[in-house]
Amino acid sequence: MSLDLAPSPVRSDAPAPSSGRALTVAIVGATGAVGAELIDQLERRAFPVGELRLLASPRSAGRSLTFRGRPVAVQVLDDDAFDGVDVAFFSAGAGVSRRYGPVAAARGALVVDNSSAFRMDEATPLVVPEVNGRDLPAEGAGRLVANPNCVTAVAVMALGPLHNEVPIRRVIAATYQAASGAGAAAMEELRASTAAYLDGRAFQPQVLKHPYAFNLFSHDAAVDPATGYNGEESKVMDELRKILGAPDLRVGITCVRVPVLRAHAMALTVEFASPLAAERAREILSTAPGVRLVDDVAANHFPMPNEASGRDEVLVGRIRPDTSDPTGCSLALFVVGDQLLKGAALNAIQIAEAMVGR
Ligand code: A2P
Repeated sequence: MSLDLAPSPVRSDAPAPSSGRALTVAIVGATGAVGAELIDQLERRAFPVGELRLLASPRSAGRSLTFRGRPVAVQVLDDDAFDGVDVAFFSAGAGVSRRYGPVAAARGALVVDNSSAFRMDEATPLVVPEVNGRDLPAEGAGRLVANPNCVTAVAVMALGPLHNEVPIRRVIAATYQAASGAGAAAMEELRASTAAYLDGRAFQPQVLKHPYAFNLFSHDAAVDPATGYNGEESKVMDELRKILGAPDLRVGITCVRVPVLRAHAMALTVEFASPLAAERAREILSTAPGVRLVDDVAANHFPMPNEASGRDEVLVGRIRPDTSDPTGCSLALFVVGDQLLKGAALNAIQIAEAMVGR
């Protein structure tokens, strides 16, 4: 089996927003790695943008970025930047979201927040549309929706459809996470440090704490000494429970940064409330929206970051019984998704499409 490596074409399933009105859209963090993908997604998915406001820090004053073939000047973020904005995408870190997210919502914008600032607030929906689109606020209700952590978003695309078939009781995960999750500067550090390594030059890491070329390390989020888990791991545990509506879900996870540019991979061992055959899981995932089965045992062809990069779909494969569980209730699978797309920008745009398309 071979996978078409070209970026996914414009999706035919992108809902045509029904308002018919061209919207004023703001991107906070437009100059970042996710910001670039948000701009691209707005264009590719023909989101009804009338005016696009690209917002960033004073460091980006004077820059311009391209949208629909035309330059758009980057503006420095301030409260007034949200006047008249219909939809605001935030991807500039939790601090910026906490400060400006409520300002944008109060001025009437639908806020789709990619940071961790509001994800676990009880009143804030945390949504992957294919899995829990039902949690999106009713028309006229909340104006702020949180986009999950990138590992959560990718994992839940595989776990959600299986959980609908047989409730999941426990997930054990190990991740292989790309540089993009740490931003554009980390991606550049991976490129530069790899070039230096191959040239035999010394390289001093600036963004991540450890040498990145030909190396891997425990995720850079701080470890909580009380639990032994780092911030990334805790986010995934909490967010999986919230999105799956399974407060008692038991999750164990180890998050690791690997020298890959933009797609996150993860090995998941999943325990269900009752036995689920690997073949049935394969059947379910082969028709799950936004999922692509890559499970060719004969060719030893399974999900890989180079095939997931630039693709909308999350790739799932290596579906097999977990033989360490003699009850037949556990399966193992390998899942890979583009951190910048389903893990961030694509999911955010899908949330906005669902909200404005009502
Ligand atoms: P800037 O480029 O001006 O620093 P990444 O996740 O790739 O590192 O990108 C982070 C994004 O968030 C960038 O667009 C960055 O803008 C933006 N950003 C970071 N801090 C602020 C801030 N205090 N105000 C506005 N934008 C910010």
